[in-house]
Amino acid sequence: MQKEETKKRIEQLTRVLEQHNYSYYVLSNPTISDYDFDMLLEELIQLEKEFPEYLLPNSPSQRVGGEITKTFKTVKHQYPMLSLANSYSKEEMQEFDARVKKGLELDTNSLFAPDIEYVCELKFDGLSISLIYENGQLKQAVTRGDGVQGDDVTTNVRTIRSIPLKLKGDFPPAFEIRGEIFFPRNVFDEINEEREEIGEAPLANPRNAASGTMKMQDSSVVAKRKLDCFMYYVLGENLHFETHSENLDKAKSWGFKISEKSKVCKNIDEVFDFIEFWDKERYKLPYDIDGIVIKVNNYGKQEQLGMTAKSPRWAIAYKFKAAQVSTILESISYQVGRTGAITPVANLKPVLLAGTTVKRASLHNADIISKLDVRIGDTVFVEKGGEIIPKIISVDLTKRNENSAPVEYISECPECGISLKRNEGEANHFCPNENGCPPQIKGKMEHYVGRKAMNIESLGAETIEQLYEAGLLKNIADIYDLKKEQLLPLERMAEKSANNLIDGIEQSKQIPFERVLYAIGIRHVGETTAKKIAKKVKSIDLLMHSTTEELLQIDEVGEIIAKSIQEYFSNETNKKIVERLIEKGLQFSLSEEQLQNTTEKLKDLTFVISGVFQKHSRDELKNMIEQNGGKNTGSISKKTSYVLAGDNMGPEKLKKAEALGVKIISEDDFLNLIS
Ligand code: IVH
Repeated sequence: MQKEETKKRIEQLTRVLEQHNYSYYVLSNPTISDYDFDMLLEELIQLEKEFPEYLLPNSPSQRVGGEITKTFKTVKHQYPMLSLANSYSKEEMQEFDARVKKGLELDTNSLFAPDIEYVCELKFDGLSISLIYENGQLKQAVTRGDGVQGDDVTTNVRTIRSIPLKLKGDFPPAFEIRGEIFFPRNVFDEINEEREEIGEAPLANPRNAASGTMKMQDSSVVAKRKLDCFMYYVLGENLHFETHSENLDKAKSWGFKISEKSKVCKNIDEVFDFIEFWDKERYKLPYDIDGIVIKVNNYGKQEQLGMTAKSPRWAIAYKFKAAQVSTILESISYQVGRTGAITPVANLKPVLLAGTTVKRASLHNADIISKLDVRIGDTVFVEKGGEIIPKIISVDLTKRNENSAPVEYISECPECGISLKRNEGEANHFCPNENGCPPQIKGKMEHYVGRKAMNIESLGAETIEQLYEAGLLKNIADIYDLKKEQLLPLERMAEKSANNLIDGIEQSKQIPFERVLYAIGIRHVGETTAKKIAKKVKSIDLLMHSTTEELLQIDEVGEIIAKSIQEYFSNETNKKIVERLIEKGLQFSLSEEQLQNTTEKLKDLTFVISGVFQKHSRDELKNMIEQNGGKNTGSISKKTSYVLAGDNMGPEKLKKAEALGVKIISEDDFLNLIS
């Protein structure tokens, strides 16, 4: 094909594919079969491969992802991303209406006080996103972050099919539009079914799942997750409209997905009707909402009302109460976790709640059971908030059977039969048989190979189970004795998977000390604590011989963690496992490079970081503080040594620092301090 012809064909394919995309994902009205769509897309991808000079960042081919983002760039928002004030009752909404009228200097006492026009919208439960368009092209997509600056997630956002990459019609040359990225409920359920099949813990709720997905490094994985997005707020200079509703209608004509459920209400009573309607009907929607957003429609009035430091005065969120239902508690089962912690789970008579059948509820621990005084056979009230697992809120005592007796909490492990223990100050009972209780053994290994620990990807829960059943894995050190010949006879283990597994295990020997320390699974030593310990103590040998006083010197280590570390190393089996891991060549001390980068220059100094910086991101600065022996905290107190201030430091923080006489330093002052 001639170059000119190719260019034309690429342009044509781009147009046609985007139009089909729009019909399918925004209008929910497909205009082509999936097969034909894939054929056209394939042709486009081929042409772009042959003529890479014609591949544009907003080509429909970019919707399948592929680009890897190692770290997301921090970007400052042009307009801060404020949140909304919440309200939970009709009274609070009436107060909002009165505040709006007062703010607009309307005489609220007069019988003829004019009503305010509000727009009611669904409050989508996902993560907010800011999209920047220039000349009709998606330029940048940024997460909310702390409201002042967020992460540039453009590559991932391009894979969301309902977000237009190119606009149609008479769009302004430059503007920002905000909306909510979310998981439709069926997509979320599918993901969790798949996760359960491969033995991974299900994601807790669609909101967290959406946030997690947006931060994934591989955009092709994001593309497969089928996120969706509604837009609800247009910002920019020269928008030429008088009302929010007109602007959203316009945005719809440019190709954005705007909810059809929004309504312009003439007064606060119409707002109440809208709220009442959706409180009942929300379970029929194919996505989660957690309330209604009410906005003053007229832009002039919005401007007159203005904003507080946190939220606009012209809008408010009405939050729905969590759905509740009553059912019968049939029995309680006890689960044993990786660290031996026992979690009681309520088995309920199946009941419909918020659109799903509920059979189980978490009961957390023995204290919660006695506080609720919940008994087998009781009628209980169950509530479902944002989380997937519902909670038991209370007992309907009027329906209690007079022969019922308080729950006798188990005293032996349901898995291995050993007597349970409970440490003072801890909520959960636990099974102390950490190296002999099957779910603990397998759980420990799953934790060990996890992404944040040793990252041995090819050793998933299913393979661990197989190897455990085959008697090849009894503890984490056994992983390093595995041979290819032992793996090959296992079901579903081909030559390639066996090689991958052995390679993955070998590579894990390079994982740095702090992650190994987290991976070996000392109770209460999480990721952050492991980092702090590694930095301070520097090697496992020194850690094993640390006294309680020495351990308590470490940031984040209190009595419970110190005791747990000592208990871990006083257990002969653990000691042997660690010795074997050392022999196998794992990293049990800080590397030379890590040692060189750490100093004690900021020893005993406490920092609060505020604002936006020119040379380093906030995370980088936090790391530098820690690497030089200093401590980061979130709020200013008398104990704060320095406030490290960037641009746009919050006025409240500034006031507080001045009042307490805390020294405020700039990024350059700080860099001098550690140079
Ligand atoms: S408007 C300045 N409209 O709710 C006003 N927000 O609690 C900006 N949200 O951060 C927000 N649906 O993530 C607006 N229809 C809607 C919304 C909505 C969901 C989220 C948004 C915001 C949070 C505030």
